[in-house]
Amino acid sequence: MNDSSDIIEVKNLTKKFKDLTAVDGISFSVREGEVFGFLGPNGAGKTTTIKMLCTLLRPTSGQALVSGQDVVKSPSEVRKHIGLVAEKLILYDRLTAMENLKFFGSLYHIPKQEVVARATKWLKALEMEKWQDKMAGTFSTGMKQRVNIARALLTEPEVIFLDEPTLGLDPQTSRSIRNFIDDLHAHGVTVILTTHIMPEADELSDNIAIIDHGKIIAMDTPQNLKASIKKDNATLEDVFLRLTGRDMREDSHEHIPSARAHMFGGKSRVR
Ligand SMILES: Nc1ncnc2c1ncn2[C@@H]1O[C@H](COP(=O)(O)OP(=O)(O)OP(=O)(O)O)[C@@H](O)[C@H]1O
Ligand SMILES: [Mg+2]
Repeated sequence: MNDSSDIIEVKNLTKKFKDLTAVDGISFSVREGEVFGFLGPNGAGKTTTIKMLCTLLRPTSGQALVSGQDVVKSPSEVRKHIGLVAEKLILYDRLTAMENLKFFGSLYHIPKQEVVARATKWLKALEMEKWQDKMAGTFSTGMKQRVNIARALLTEPEVIFLDEPTLGLDPQTSRSIRNFIDDLHAHGVTVILTTHIMPEADELSDNIAIIDHGKIIAMDTPQNLKASIKKDNATLEDVFLRLTGRDMREDSHEHIPSARAHMFGGKSRVR
C-alpha cells in the first residue's frame, strides 16, 4: 500500500449481495507492469472483485484505487485507464471484426481514424488481420475471443483485466493468447488474470493471489507459493488444492462422492 509504483490498491473491499458476502474485506496491491494472477474456486469472488475494480459493481464497503483513481468517486477516470475482457463475449455477429471494433471505438469516444489504426494493430498482434473483414458470426470461439481482446485494448489501457481469457479454447488458441499476454507484459501493460488453469497462471504471473469464500488466503510469487508446501516438485495445483481443499463447490457437491462410488463399484478412491 502507498507504494507509488502500485497501479491497483485495494483496501478492505467488500461486496454483499443481500445476505451473501461475495467479497469479504480483501486488501491487495498490484504493481505497475506486472501480471497478477487472481485465482480461486468457482464462486470465490474473482469476477465480483474484477467488476468492482472496473466500476461495473459498486462496493458495499472498502476502497479501491486504479491508476490512482477511486473506483467509486471517479469511475469515468478509472475507465479511461482500463480494458476488460469479461467472462461473456461482447461482439455483434452481423458485423465484421473491423466493424465491431469501429463500433466499440465510437462508444469509447476514440477518433475514427485512430480506431482503425489501433484496431488494425491489435488484430495483427492477435493474428486476426486476415479475418478483419469477415462477419464475427462466422468465427470460431477462439477467433471471437481474439477480437474481444482487441476490443478491450482499443483504449490503449494501462491495465487490462482478463477474466478466464482461455476458457473453452483449444490448445493452439490458448497458447497464442498466453504468448500475447507475455507480449503485453513485455510492453509494460499491467494484467489482472483469472484462470482455472494452474499451469497457465504459473507460467504467466509475477504474483498470485488465491481467494476463497471472498477472502484472500494466500498471496506471493508462484515460486514462493510452490516452495511453501512440503512436497517435492510441488505444482501450483498442489498449492491450490492444499489451500482450498478438495471439495467441489457446486451446490450438489454432496452427491458426487456417492456417484463416484457407484461408478467404481463402491470403491471411491480419494487421492
Ligand atoms: N449479481 C449477483 N447477485 C447475487 N449473487 C451474486 C451476483 N454475482 C455473483 N454472485 C455470487 O457471488 C459469489 C461470487 O461470485 P463470482 O462470480 O465473483 O465468483 P468467481 O470467483 O468469479 O467464480 P467462477 O470461477 O465460477 O467464475 C457467488 O456465490 C455468486 O453466486
Ligand atoms: Mg468468475
